[in-house]
Amino acid sequence: MDLGLTGKRALITGGSHGIGLATAEAFAAEGCDVAICSRSSERLSEAAQILKPFGRRLITDVCDVHSGPAINAFCDQILAAWGGVDILVNNVGGGGRWGKPQVEDTDEKVWIEVYEKNALAAVRFTMRLLPVMRKQKWGRVVTVTSRLGREGGGRPWFNMAKAAQTSMMKTLGMNHDLAGDGITFNSVAPGNIMIPNTGWEEEMKRDPEGYKKYVAQECPLGRLGTPEEVAAVIAFVCSKAASLVNGAAIAVDGGESRAF
Ligand SMILES: NC(=O)c1ccc[n+]([C@@H]2O[C@H](COP(=O)([O-])OP(=O)(O)OC[C@H]3O[C@@H](n4cnc5c(N)ncnc54)[C@H](OP(=O)(O)O)[C@@H]3O)[C@@H](O)[C@H]2O)c1
Repeated sequence: MDLGLTGKRALITGGSHGIGLATAEAFAAEGCDVAICSRSSERLSEAAQILKPFGRRLITDVCDVHSGPAINAFCDQILAAWGGVDILVNNVGGGGRWGKPQVEDTDEKVWIEVYEKNALAAVRFTMRLLPVMRKQKWGRVVTVTSRLGREGGGRPWFNMAKAAQTSMMKTLGMNHDLAGDGITFNSVAPGNIMIPNTGWEEEMKRDPEGYKKYVAQECPLGRLGTPEEVAAVIAFVCSKAASLVNGAAIAVDGGESRAF
């Protein structure tokens, strides 16, 4: 299927690893220019080695999404180089393992930091780029949430932040003015995804039997997902074939979530 993405300019936050990197690769393979940010210049250089061979324009820079001014500076840099951005993927997030199991023992700081890393970062990028997309009369905004943004079960600060992202995408998707300007807003909600050097891989090494039991109980496919499987759905949601998909929260979880 021709996704119709050739020549589009895509910004993927946190595109140096995991789902973000797989998404950056998917867009580059579709002929998009790609901009990615993260906190570590070393990780960005490694990602650049993977993305350069696709031969499209590539911007990589350090930007911590906890900082509004850093987000604006990163967006300004991209706009100065490209003159616009067509696709925004709000991918940075996390904090599902932060805090303590006993909720009241968890500092308020954790609630604030998890909210800022997930929800507020998505708000800041989206608000900075909306005027640009409106002028262009075309735009795609996808936020990577979680199955825990659509149902209960995790640590509450994480569910709250992911639910806020899901709600933001739905509410913006229902806005007639924005839809009239050709912009769609969707969230993609992964289930448990196996990513090297992150929580699940550590858990698998720490407690192989417990991990096996968890997967057998919770994952209908008998395995965790891959970043590439999430990236493929993100790319589709941004494609011309998905022009009617707006305000949706799409589960990419192998059937793991309880929510409809
Ligand atoms: N993996 C899962 O099982 C799973 C399940 C459900 C939802 N998700 C969601 O999927 C998204 C991506 O997660 P992932 O598992 O792919 O994560 P990951 O492999 O840890 O990658 C995270 C990316 O974001 C960057 N990043 C982290 N904190 C940042 C910050 N403050 N500012 C800028 N960049 C930052 C990282 O680079 P640096 O560390 O260099 O900054 C890296 O490029 C998140 O929103 C997460 O909540 C993941």
